[in-house]
Amino acid sequence: MAGGPGMKSLYDVLAPAKLNTFLHIVGRRADGYHLLQSVFMLIDWCVTLHLELRRDGQISRSDEVADLALPADDLCVRAARALQAATGTKLGAHIHLHKRIPAQAGMGGGSSDAAACLLALARLWQVKLPRKQLAELALQLGADVPFFLLGRHAWVEGIGQELQPVILPPARFWVLKPPVGLSTPAIFGSPELKRDSEAATILGFAALGPEQIFEFGRNDLQPVAQKLCPDIDQGLKWLADRCLQGRMTGSGSAVFAHLPNEGAANTGLSKPADGWTARVCSTLEVHPLADW
Ligand code: C5P
Repeated sequence: MAGGPGMKSLYDVLAPAKLNTFLHIVGRRADGYHLLQSVFMLIDWCVTLHLELRRDGQISRSDEVADLALPADDLCVRAARALQAATGTKLGAHIHLHKRIPAQAGMGGGSSDAAACLLALARLWQVKLPRKQLAELALQLGADVPFFLLGRHAWVEGIGQELQPVILPPARFWVLKPPVGLSTPAIFGSPELKRDSEAATILGFAALGPEQIFEFGRNDLQPVAQKLCPDIDQGLKWLADRCLQGRMTGSGSAVFAHLPNEGAANTGLSKPADGWTARVCSTLEVHPLADW
């Protein structure tokens, strides 16, 4: 996927998903955004992006899901336009997405695509922004986008922009996505959301043993999501029936469970019911574009 001077396309650019090992809401800003503490973990469930240079300056987008109506404010297109504006380049691109991460899952699919577009387009257009400016641009696209630029598992604070790399033991997880997705603003906006969790410390987290790391804390968004989406309970029960402790990621609706040993995934290629997506994923130590 690397290219040299005068390159016209970048193929098979990988944009991985994330899981939140825990997610605590510790406050709310005046603008409504929530202050959180979380560990964002990269996993090997990836979208593949293909990018073609356009010399007419236009940004266009296609998707392998032919009948998928692309939103007018598609995050990849917004990322591309923001990079054009910040660098002043006259070049454009066609962006094609292949093998999507489920949307409205809490797995950061759209945010990861946007971060990968920023990095790949900077390479395709041969433009360079200072890292700090790129991170600011990413934050304007979405609170989760800066994490995917960092390219490592991270302890995350603020609204998602204060990032410190953390080391996690290599691990595998069942990841289950129900047919129904959840809207992030609806979950964060719920009057029932607990917004006053006690602050934890990265030092306390880093001192946990490998057996405790994935059990630490909880997801404060989960009770609200469970009320809106009963499928979440079904997913958690499916995991519990396999002696696995499930938890929701991000604002849902996907749930996941750590597989404590090699044998635990040998439960057959089953899933809770028709319409669900289920797969066993592994941690990714670094983002595939970490040194771009
Ligand atoms: O930043 P992003 O567009 O991904 O966020 C989607 C919505 O989620 C925001 O409009 C906001 O309602 C909510 N949100 C929040 N606090 C965060 C992240 C997201 O309230 N830290």
